[in-house]
Amino acid sequence: MKVSGTVRPPGDKSISHRALMLGALGRESHFDGVLAGEDVQSTARVLRQLGARITPVRNGVRVTVTGHRWHRPGVLHCGNSGTTARLLLGLLAGHPLTARLTGDRSLRRRPMRRVAEPLRAMGAEITEGPRDALPLTIHGGRLHAFTYTTPVASAQVKSALLFAGLTGNVPVTVREPYRSRDHTERLFVHLGLGLHARDGAVVYEPPGERPRISGFDLVVPGDASSAAFLVVAAALAESGELIVENVGVNPTRTGFLVVLERMGVSVDRVNLRDSGGEPVADLVVRPAPSIRATEVGAAEIPSLVDEVPILAVLASRAVGETVFREVGELRVKESDRLELVAANLRALGVQAAASGNDLHVLGGAAAPRGRVETAEDHRLAMAFAVLGTVPGAQVRLSERHSVAISYPTFFQDLKRIGRPARSRD
Ligand code: S3P
Repeated sequence: MKVSGTVRPPGDKSISHRALMLGALGRESHFDGVLAGEDVQSTARVLRQLGARITPVRNGVRVTVTGHRWHRPGVLHCGNSGTTARLLLGLLAGHPLTARLTGDRSLRRRPMRRVAEPLRAMGAEITEGPRDALPLTIHGGRLHAFTYTTPVASAQVKSALLFAGLTGNVPVTVREPYRSRDHTERLFVHLGLGLHARDGAVVYEPPGERPRISGFDLVVPGDASSAAFLVVAAALAESGELIVENVGVNPTRTGFLVVLERMGVSVDRVNLRDSGGEPVADLVVRPAPSIRATEVGAAEIPSLVDEVPILAVLASRAVGETVFREVGELRVKESDRLELVAANLRALGVQAAASGNDLHVLGGAAAPRGRVETAEDHRLAMAFAVLGTVPGAQVRLSERHSVAISYPTFFQDLKRIGRPARSRD
C-alpha cells in the first residue's frame, strides 16, 4: 500500500470521560473535540441519569455540560466501558445516595474489586456480586482521608480514588508500582484543585470547605491510542508519508512511539502545542525500510497498555522475536487480549504465544491469511484490520462494528490513507 495525506484521530477517550465527569460536578462547561464513540456515550448517559445536563455528544459538535445536584438514579448501565464504571464508582463514593451499576457481558467479567476495596476502606458501602464484578450497588457518603498503594498500575483505580477524594472532600494519596496515565491529575491542576506530586505519590488535598468546581472550557486532543493504528498502518506501507494531526502526546500515553523508534519506525512530532494542560503534536510517519524485533519491559507497559495489540501486529512483520513482559493486565481488558492476540496471530500463520504473563511474537515476511476472532473487542478489530493492509494479506474479521467503541470512522480513515502501491500515483 502507498500511504498519503493527513488524518485526524477522534478525541481522546480517557480525557473525554474525565471532562464529562468533572463537568457534571460543576456549573456550565464547554468541551470541543469530545469523542463521540460508544464508551463516552455511556458516560454521558449515566451522568444524565444522575442529574447532569449534557448536550448530544456528536462528532465535531461542542458539548455543553451543566452539573446539578445528583439524585438517586435508576440502574446505571456502563455499556462496554471499564473507565465509566470504575471512575463513576469513585465519584459516587462521596455522594450520599445509592446507585446500582451494571454493564455489558464483557464489562461484567472485568474486575471491580481493585476499586471497590480501596473505596470501601475510605468509607463507601459497596455490595459486590459474588464474582468480584458488576452488577454492584454503592452507597456513598462520609469518607475519610486515605493513603493507598495500588497493586497494579491502573489509571482507572488512581482516578477513582482521586474522584472520591474530590466528592468526599477528603485528602487522598495514591502510589502506584509504575506511573499510569495522568489525565486526571492534569485536569485537577487545570481546574485549580489541590493536586500535587510528593515523594513519587499523587496527593489530593481539599481546600477545607467543599470545593466548588467552576465551569471550564476544554479542547480535547486526538487520541494517541487511536492514532497508533494509523501510525502502524503507515509504518507497514511500502511507500509514501502520512501526517496524523492533533494527537495527544502526553508521555504517559506515548510509550508506543518509543517502542516504534526502537523497532526502526521513524515518527516525527511537529507543531508541538498545549491544549488544556496536555501536550499535542502532529505526527509525520514514513514507512519503515525494515522492522526490528524488541523487548518491551514491564515498566513501559502502562504507557502503552492499549497499544500492545497493534505493536504485536507490527512485531509480526519484524526481523526476530519480540517479547512483551508482564502484560497479564491484558487478560482483563475488553477481552482476554493476551490470549486472543496470540491465538489470532497464529490463525494468520504467525508464531506467537502467551507464556505466563509474557507475550512472544516471532516476526516473518509471509502474507498473513486467515480469520480473526475479535471477541467484539475494538482494539483487536483495528489491530488486525491494519495487518490486513500488508501485501498479499487476506485477513477476515469476525466483526467490524466494535470499532464504534473508540473510533467510529476507523475503517473510512484506514481506506482513505492508503491505496494499492501499484496504482499510478
Ligand atoms: C484508561 C486506563 C487504562 C486503559 C483504558 C483507559 C483510563 O486502563 O486500558 O483503556 O481512561 O483511565 P487501566 O488504567 O485500568 O490499565
